[in-house]
Amino acid sequence: MKDHQNRQIKVANSSRKWFTKPAVYVSVLILFYVLGYLSASCFNSQHPTSAVTAALTESPNHLSNTTDIAASGTGPSSAEHGHNLFGSRCAGPVSSKLVRQTILDRLFNGTSPYENFPPAQAFGLLKTKRIKGWGSNGAVFEKLIRKVKPRTIIEVGTFLGASATHMAGLTSRLGLKTQILCIDDFRGWPGFLDGRFRDIAMLNGDVFLLYQFMQNVVYLNLTESILPVPFSTGAALEKLCEWGVFGDLVEVDAGHDFHSAWSDINRAYKVLRPGGVIFGHDYFTSADNKGVRRAVNLFARVNGLRVKVDGQHWVIDSD
Ligand SMILES: *[C@@H]1O[C@H](CO)[C@@H](O)[C@H](O)[C@H]1NC(C)=O
Ligand SMILES: *[C@@H]1O[C@H](CO)[C@@H](O)[C@H](O)[C@H]1NC(C)=O
Ligand SMILES: *[C@@H]1O[C@H](CO)[C@@H](O)[C@H](O)[C@H]1NC(C)=O
Repeated sequence: MKDHQNRQIKVANSSRKWFTKPAVYVSVLILFYVLGYLSASCFNSQHPTSAVTAALTESPNHLSNTTDIAASGTGPSSAEHGHNLFGSRCAGPVSSKLVRQTILDRLFNGTSPYENFPPAQAFGLLKTKRIKGWGSNGAVFEKLIRKVKPRTIIEVGTFLGASATHMAGLTSRLGLKTQILCIDDFRGWPGFLDGRFRDIAMLNGDVFLLYQFMQNVVYLNLTESILPVPFSTGAALEKLCEWGVFGDLVEVDAGHDFHSAWSDINRAYKVLRPGGVIFGHDYFTSADNKGVRRAVNLFARVNGLRVKVDGQHWVIDSD
């Protein structure tokens, strides 16, 4: 205690001496200015986050008007925090019975994409059945389908359809009439043809991933329960929201880097029907807490939700 007081006195004495030099005086002013600036921006950066948290906690069915949230921030800081905002509220839900027709009308000019499949240019280039997935048969699928009894499932990240066809098999065995929407750009990832997928055909730079996925669905007689939504996850989820197409069960398994996962989870949660369940793969990966897990945990924290873990999968109940 005594030491501490002595030190304070010494500091006070020496600073009085320093203040006699104008150059030092100016430096101290600049230092104070910088400190003030830093603490102000620190304060601002916390403010919108807590506003978002508060707003989302108050309306857990995620239909909060994000314009209001942005407006409640002050000045430029609310724009800086756009990473918490994912568009405006979704349209009212279309009935489950109309989901398939809505997608056919909006995306495929009212005609099933399986009609006259495969097209002439794909003859002889597709395998009768070519499926490969990761963790696609995990017990979590059956558990959640039994629990939620979904009329609509939205899958974000499909690739060759391993988990989609697995889920379609489960729902039909359980006597459910479930429509599964498969969002994927069906491009794989840059360089994926170099490895064990070199057997997937490519024509003039166009890889036949969509067609091979559709062929798998056709082969398994699942064309009535599975529809592709062949666009990027961000664009597709925004449109489903705009059209009022919601899922009772939403599976997120697309890009595994933090930014992709963060965007997918936020957008996917908007099209989760209140009371539904959202889940995804690769909670534990070599990316550890830098990719999917960080995004999932941050999302749960911001929204006051709880993450449950089932094998490699994360699960979030919306109620
Ligand atoms: C959101 O709130 C803003 C400002 O109160 C309002 O102008 C706008 O119409 C609202 N949007 C929706 C979709 O409710
Ligand atoms: C969409 O369907 C209408 C009739 O149902 C048809 O006239 C039109 O050519 C179709 N458009 C495309 C791009 O296939
Ligand atoms: C699909 O249906 C056809 C006839 O409707 C049947 O012959 C075939 O075995 C079925 N395929 C599978 C994989 O169930």
